[in-house]
Order: sequence, then C-alpha cells, then structure tokens
Amino acid sequence: MAYPYQVTTLDQYNTAYKKSVDDPEAFWGDIASNFLWRKRWDKVLDWNFTEPNIKWFLNGKLNITENCLDRHLGSLGNKPAIIWEPNDPEEHHRVLTYRELHNKVLQFGNVLKNNGVKKGDRVCIYMGMVPELAVAVLACARIGAIHSVVFGGFSAQSIADRLQDAQAEFVITCDGAYRGNKEIPLKGVIDDALIQCKFVKKVIVLTRTRTPVSMIKGRDVWWEDEIKKVETQGNPYCEAEEMDAEDPLFILYTSGSTGKPKGVVHSTAGYMVYTAYSFVNVFQYQPGDIHFCTADIGWITGHSYIVYGPLAAGATTMIYEGIPTFPDAGRFWSIVDKYKVNILYTAPTAIRSLMGFGLGPVQNHDLSSLKVLGTVGEPINEEAWHWYDEHIGKKKCPIVDTWWQTETGGVLISNLAGVTPSKPSFATLPLPGVQPILVDEKGQEVKGNGVSGNLCIKFPWPSILRTTYGDHERCRQNYFATYDSLYFTGDGCLRDENGNYRITGRVDDVLNVSGHRIGTAEVENAINMHAGVVESAIVGFPHEIKGQGIYAYVIYDGSHGDEELARKDIMQTVSRIIGPIAKPDKIQFVSGLPKTRSGKIMRRILRKIAEGEMDNLGDTSTLLDPGVVNEIKGGKI
Ligand code: PRX
Repeated sequence: MAYPYQVTTLDQYNTAYKKSVDDPEAFWGDIASNFLWRKRWDKVLDWNFTEPNIKWFLNGKLNITENCLDRHLGSLGNKPAIIWEPNDPEEHHRVLTYRELHNKVLQFGNVLKNNGVKKGDRVCIYMGMVPELAVAVLACARIGAIHSVVFGGFSAQSIADRLQDAQAEFVITCDGAYRGNKEIPLKGVIDDALIQCKFVKKVIVLTRTRTPVSMIKGRDVWWEDEIKKVETQGNPYCEAEEMDAEDPLFILYTSGSTGKPKGVVHSTAGYMVYTAYSFVNVFQYQPGDIHFCTADIGWITGHSYIVYGPLAAGATTMIYEGIPTFPDAGRFWSIVDKYKVNILYTAPTAIRSLMGFGLGPVQNHDLSSLKVLGTVGEPINEEAWHWYDEHIGKKKCPIVDTWWQTETGGVLISNLAGVTPSKPSFATLPLPGVQPILVDEKGQEVKGNGVSGNLCIKFPWPSILRTTYGDHERCRQNYFATYDSLYFTGDGCLRDENGNYRITGRVDDVLNVSGHRIGTAEVENAINMHAGVVESAIVGFPHEIKGQGIYAYVIYDGSHGDEELARKDIMQTVSRIIGPIAKPDKIQFVSGLPKTRSGKIMRRILRKIAEGEMDNLGDTSTLLDPGVVNEIKGGKI
C-alpha cells in the first residue's frame, strides 16, 4: 500500500481514532516513522496548554524539502509534482516533474544564499499563483529560512505591517500578477510598502507580466539574473539545512478580534506529518491522482493542501493562477476536463457564485474523472452542498466538508472521503488524533449528543500553532486563556445525536467573508483613518454568495463632501489600508452608536439590525441612549 497510514474503512477509522486517544505518542510515532529523518526523535510529545508549550518529535532532525522532494526522486522523479494552469487559457500550461521541481528549488535555494539569506531569517513572499511561488516557499524551507507568504490582494500598508512584525529583511515578489482581466502591480505595491521598511535588504523580482517596475540599485534584483549567476557558478548542490523538529517553518498572518493581525507560527516536523496524514486520509489520495485545490498559496489552505501536504505525499498538485469566472464561469470545469482532475477542493463561496450562472457553464465539460470533492473555509449551506453533489460530483463523489484554521495547520474535523459518512452542512467527525470538546460560557464541558457550545480541542495534534511571532503572551491570551487547559477555536458548534459536528460560525469579533477571515477591529481602524469619520462599528450580515458580508455603521462629520462621495472615499480608504477583500458591502451613516453606560458598543443590536431583525433586538435597557437604536433602525444605506 502506498500509504501505510491511510485508513480506508470505517472500522480502520474507528480503530485509528481509539488508538490515537489511548496512546497518542505511539500513534503519531508510527505515522512519523514513514518520513525521512536525519535523526529520529527522542520523545514524541511534550506539552502543556497553560504556557502553552507544545513540542512534537523532540530532538528529531530533518528537512521538510527532503521529504517533499528528494525522497521521491527515485520512484517519482519523472512524475508531475506541479501542474500549472495560467490565468489565460490560451497561454501554455506548465508541468514540473519532481526532478524538475527539485532542481529549481535547489537553484533558488542558492539564489537565496547568494543574496545573504540565512537559517532563521524571515523572508516575505508576495507573488501571484505561479509555480515559482511554490519554488520560493520550498527554497526557504531548504535553507532553513522562515517564509511568510502574504496574499497578493493585500495592500502596501498590510505588507509593511507584516514585514515590521516579522522583521523580514528579504522579499520575493513578481513584477505583476494576472487575476481574471486584472493585472496587479505587485512590485509597485512592494515599493510602497518598503518606504516604511528601510530594514529590507533585498527584493528578488520574478518576471511575469512585464508590468513596468522601478528597480532600486543595491536592493532589487531580478530572479532570472540571479538564476543565471547560479548557473555560471556551475549549479552547486544546495544541501538541505538540518532542522530541528521544532524549528519554525513559516509564519502566516491571520486576523483576530484585535486590530493587529497575528503571525501564526508553525514548526517543521509536526506540520509536515499532520499535513501529509490529513491530506492522504481526508481526500483518500491514491498515487497518480491529480489534486486541484483552488485556494491561493497566500492562505493556509494553499500552504497545507497545494504545497506541503500533497508534495510530502508524492502527489500531483495543481496551481491555478486565475479566478473561477475567467474567461467564463465554466473555467473550473474546463480545467477538470483538461487535466482529468480527480480531487477538487474549493470554497463554498466559489460554489455559490458559480451556481448563480446556472448549468450552462457546467455542460459540455467531461467531469467523469472526479472522485472526491471538498470544501473549506466557511459553513456550506445545504443548497450549495446539493448542487455540488448533483451537478459536479454527479452523485458519485463523496464531499468532504473540512473544518480547520490557520492555527490548526491541517484539517481537524471532516469526513474521510468514502470512508466515513458525510452529512450536508456538517464537518462530521474529528480526524484521528483530534479531541474536540464543547464548552458553555463558563467553561463547563457540554457532554452528550444533541448539544451545542464553543468548540475547543483538549489535546495537541502535531500541527497546532506553537506561538504568535514575537509575542507568545498574545498566543496564550488568544487561544489558551479563555478556558483552562483547552485550545479555544473561536467557533460555535453543535453536535448532533450521532456525534457529528456542525460548525455554526465565529463567536468572537471575526467575520468570515468569502471564506476569508476579517477582524472587525481591523476594518474599523481602517475606516476611522478617513479624515471625516468620527467613529465606526463593523458587523457581519448574511450574504448570499460571500456567506457573510461586511456592514459598517459610520458616524461621519460631513466635512468631506456628501454621503455618496464619503461612502466611496471610505471604501477607497479600506482598500488602501487593508486590501479590497475588506471593503464593506454596506455603509450606513448614523449619528450615534448604541453603547452601554461603560462605553462598550453593543454589537449584538447592530448585528440584528444588519440582519433585518428589527423586532427582535432583545434587552436595550442598559444602553446609554436607547433613542439611537430607533434612529439606526429607521436609517437608510
Ligand atoms: O470559522 C471557521 C471557518 O474559518 C475559520 C478559519 O479561518 P482561516 O484561519 O482563514 O482558515 C480557513 C481555511 C482553513 C474557522 O474558525 N471555517 C473553516 N472551515 C470551515 C469553517 N466553518 C465551517 N465549516 C468549515 N468547513
């Protein structure tokens, strides 16, 4: 069998789950033995959730790229590792075999070294979805540098914040990126960000769009020129840096309930073992299958299920540069048809948006290669689930509804395709090694079935975050201090009569817009930067396609033109400060916000109004000025 750790029957799942709880160290030790170690670990696990201090595979030594690349060269050297589909279907696609990818990673590893990057240095990667993005990520891992990929839709200000937080002295970018009919001037955005980040020493720029760029002497170099230098040096072998199991592999920033994004830190061995394990089990990957995850590598889904999980398993993974609706709403289906994709993993928001185009774009594409469908990022509504099942999977493909987070590194709750039963809109059961528990407001465990509560995990799994970069206390506060000795997910959840889990959404001030996490405080801070804004409050509201939309209540002083102009200016401000993904869908101008006597905004009321539930506002007696509520209710947007 290709993967000794793949469970393929319900019985095997039950046995694996039981073992993982009864003897987690033996369970994960067995799985980890399937990987390539320079030195085996002394102890599988050491942990407490109070500090927190979590260590897996203690004193084990390895390099993740030897596991993702070198290890496969013998058997898979000529097999495709990456298939790249460009934005424009007329442009030629690219295939990189494991051997070619290995060569490119080693070459670029040398480029990084030539440019002064050393083990432990932070490298910010701001690129479009081209194969070189995966090469850059893996080259960092090769030489032990810590990558921090920033999604190509974030603004210069967001990049500057992340560069400063991580003290990243190196940036890898492209001249530009194609997304649908747009061209995004990535290098220009980096230049704007770097005005505030004088500590950045080198910027390596890949040519993609030939967008005009300005190259700063001594700081900016072309990817292609640097590769040529390595070639003239005779392509020296780029030895994989020996890493400790717990050495950080990457930082990925994500939004929380406070204003500043957190740099979630994942370490090497546990992340590798868990992403490979979950990839092979959730999707039931079989050697030779083509896996198409439509996420961007700028998000955790892309890190774990485009790059590391699939490559650690020797899979063929697709990188798609474009968007679902370009040049038309049949693009995903034409890609499935063209490459005979076997596993398709996407977000409910994409499914809902494509549903809106009817069945026309689905027809005339042969989807019979599909074996498994997956969703991630937000709750999937039943209508979208059934559409996906009927029209894409033709009722023959199990759908895995995978619940997880940037912080969890890999899927924690999901059915295993065709192995454990699915249930529309339920993530269903925990993976082996994952011990969920529901708690009430007071932190008491809610036992039994047919109950709901806040979702926590009571035991570590190998790819749990280790810290938030530069601020361990923040990590403790955010995830481990709400409930004693539990990891708190921030999600509400219900458990049905059969023990299946259904995630009901965030219980903190975090929104989930099109599967992207957006902190309300972050958006409020951005809006408040507009010169005419006195104060603002952000809440989510149900949105047909995005899942949640962003609703902004804004107190505007009238100093910057009429409301129509102010509305546009505020949108522009948010785009500038965070990025277009955080732009409010609706802005309502108000003269006051509902506050308690202690000055706290009562978001519960604003949420109800945004949802249109005007008659059901609950207790408003603790408000400083209850009159404000009537005004907001009667207001227009
Ligand atoms: O609220 C949950 C939701 O997305 C949040 C995590 O967002 P992020 O860190 O950006 O990672 C997204 C991709 C893993 C969770 O706290 N979420 C994620 N998957 C699901 C989900 N909600 C319901 N069902 C899911 N399958």
